[in-house]
Amino acid sequence: MSTLLHIDSSPRAASVSSRLTAAFAAKWKQQHPAGTVVHHNTSHENIPYLSEAAVDAFFTPAAGLTAEQKRVLATSDRLVDELLAADVIVLGVPMWNLSIPASLKAWIDLIVREGRTFAFTPNGVVPLVPPGKRVFVFSARGGAYPAGTPFHSLDHQEAYLRTILGILGLAEIEFIHAEHQSDAPGAAAEGLARAEHALAALAA
Ligand SMILES: Cc1cc2nc3c(=O)[nH]c(=O)nc-3n(C[C@H](O)[C@H](O)[C@H](O)COP(=O)(O)O)c2cc1C
Repeated sequence: MSTLLHIDSSPRAASVSSRLTAAFAAKWKQQHPAGTVVHHNTSHENIPYLSEAAVDAFFTPAAGLTAEQKRVLATSDRLVDELLAADVIVLGVPMWNLSIPASLKAWIDLIVREGRTFAFTPNGVVPLVPPGKRVFVFSARGGAYPAGTPFHSLDHQEAYLRTILGILGLAEIEFIHAEHQSDAPGAAAEGLARAEHALAALAA
């Protein structure tokens, strides 16, 4: 049975990124009627920031964890389990201040786990997430950051997500951007229509 991990991160009811991920999830469910969808909206859930106790527990070998450290790691363990169990991952990501919402960063800080999703080795960092998972990122942004323009280098969203997910072994990532969402209504509608067109063409 297939599993889709569906993560949204916009707090807005009228969110464009969440609208696109919802359409993606509906399409995926049609193609995988017996499949399971695990859904979170990081901005609606209290995803904890890393505390000192959590950082200490992250770097304590599993055999030496105290009961209290296991309790501190419980949310991270659950989110890592969800990631490892997923066949397909879809992220809805508003561009905020050229990057991602803090709540999504909080989720990332809990799934990037030494010994579970990546490992330090004498040859450097190696990924521990099994290969073959596909990742789709639907971003919505007020402007546009196309390659070949001076704006491209300001897009710290796609570059960051590609890099951090790639470190875990999630290398098959497709980005679909709904651009111009803060521009004139016609441009915003066209930006959304382009993203919906790209979504329709995806083989999920
Ligand atoms: C706090 C905040 C910061 C934003 N920063 C940017 C930005 O740096 N660049 C940009 O193009 N749009 C920016 N926007 C516009 C959003 O990316 C745009 O409204 C997008 O549609 C939000 O995604 P959502 O519709 O899924 O909530 C920002 C919006 C907010 C609320």
